[in-house]
Amino acid sequence: MREKAPETYGQKLEQLQQLRREAIHAGSEAAVEKQHARGKYTARERVEKLLDTGSFQELGTFVRHRTHEFEMQKSRPWGDAVVTGHGTIDGRRVCVFSQDFTVFGGSLGEVMAEKICKIMDLAANIGCPVIGINDSGGARIQEGVVSLGAYGDVFLRNVQCSGVIPQLSLIMGPCAGGAVYSPAITDFIFMVKETSHMFITGPEVIKTVTGEEVGFEELGGAVSHSSKSGVAHFACDDEDACLEDARYLLSFLPQNNLEPPPRLAPTDAPDRIDPELDVVVPDSPNKPYDMREVIRRVVDDGEFYEVHEHWARNIVCGFSRLDGFAVGVVGNQPAQLAGVLDIDCSEKAARFIRFCDAFNIPILTFCDVPGFLPGTNQEWRGIIRRGAKLLYAYAEATVPKITVITRKAYGGAYDVMGSKHLAADMNFAWPTAEVAVMGPDGAVNIIYRRDIAASPTPDARREKLINDYRSHFANPYAAAERGYLDDVIIPHETRPKVVTALHTLQTKRQPGPRRKHGNIPL
Ligand code: HXC
Repeated sequence: MREKAPETYGQKLEQLQQLRREAIHAGSEAAVEKQHARGKYTARERVEKLLDTGSFQELGTFVRHRTHEFEMQKSRPWGDAVVTGHGTIDGRRVCVFSQDFTVFGGSLGEVMAEKICKIMDLAANIGCPVIGINDSGGARIQEGVVSLGAYGDVFLRNVQCSGVIPQLSLIMGPCAGGAVYSPAITDFIFMVKETSHMFITGPEVIKTVTGEEVGFEELGGAVSHSSKSGVAHFACDDEDACLEDARYLLSFLPQNNLEPPPRLAPTDAPDRIDPELDVVVPDSPNKPYDMREVIRRVVDDGEFYEVHEHWARNIVCGFSRLDGFAVGVVGNQPAQLAGVLDIDCSEKAARFIRFCDAFNIPILTFCDVPGFLPGTNQEWRGIIRRGAKLLYAYAEATVPKITVITRKAYGGAYDVMGSKHLAADMNFAWPTAEVAVMGPDGAVNIIYRRDIAASPTPDARREKLINDYRSHFANPYAAAERGYLDDVIIPHETRPKVVTALHTLQTKRQPGPRRKHGNIPL
């Protein structure tokens, strides 16, 4: 502050401009240079690049910390270590906070948390997404327990906003210790390769406690979290790509849980047929094919923004559009582990479905599933309770649900994958579908074991029984006869069928029972 108080209007204006300049340059030049040298933008540069040009309205510019411990009163930069405000992305309002690593290492203390909570409250009150850009050394050490309480205030907001407004976390630097739990509660986490790291305990602590040696990138980098742990939904090559991806994701989402997602002007004919779909499923039931190809051929312009692309790849989840309407697409992936359901893919798809349901995004499911993955690894890690999440999520979802069975729908996995029994609205199957308790080989070996053993030509007998079973059960007609399928369709007409179904379901209403909340097996 100047020593002499300004007197004239001109001086007061000059004071404001000066304070604004100081706020913009709160971090030292050296700190900014260090940031850039690492391939990182500053907090403000990120906000400018994220939002529509010139739309950012900063709030809390003149907030400062009040700490006196450790002589902190000697350094009280304007704005503390976070930039907050609102602006637009593709013309739609969003709130944003961006931690400033060049000020106190972006560490979070009392007033930074107050700024973050305030912008989250604004987002919740006006019903718009909130985007948090994380680049922080964690709890501000000088503020002690106050900074722990401050984190708690942010966590509480994250939970209260969950299912009300979309929450996106962009990890663009360190995010360690308990601090990770704010992004963890948000809907989507983006990480940048090489420059962002998330972990509960860092490499040093791990080495001390367990003796294990691991580097930052391997422990908690974008690749690890997007392929091994599933913590990150998106791993981006650099910060520009990360900011662009976040903008793109929002194009599929509504502003809040009371609004429908935006409908874009359709650019793909709703009645387009695709003859390639007639040959995509191989004749041999054990041959893989890429479910993403099916999805791309059905949705508008082949657009499919995959979520968790590199984790639990035996199921694919992502956003697409059908005749301009945003849809969440879930598909078993025969090209990975034969599309079997396991713990990771159940949790991946369950969370995706719950997000879609919370934000009024219809769910389109492509089913080709041989069953659940057998083995002690899965059983002892809890495939029973953790696989149940997927079933629960499908059953609980009240948005329009459309399912297409392309090939296998076996056993419990048939029920789980958006079946009629879990209140899906429109269920279609291709003629190649096999809806049964289990595959022909397994079934025949169980129910005809003695019969085959007693046969003078067991192999021929087995083959005949398998063929009989296949013609009886390994088809869609037993299920269609019961009304479990609404129609058996020619693959090439899938797009017109699901587009029409989606239009039909636009007015769907499904009131739920009165209760506080269900008890999903977490
Ligand atoms: C206060 C901090 C800080 C912190 C960094 N700084 N972290 N100040 N509290 N938590 C300051 C540094 O003193 C330094 O100030 C500036 O930020 C930049 O830090 P550097 O160490 O020079 O940067 P770099 O070499 O890039 O290392 C970054 C880092 C390291 C890996 C993040 O700073 C670090 O290990 N910080 C501590 C991380 C940590 O343990 N945090 C607590 C986690 S537990 P000057 O003035 O020198 O520029 C936690 C609990 C949360 O957060 C619980 C929630 C419930």
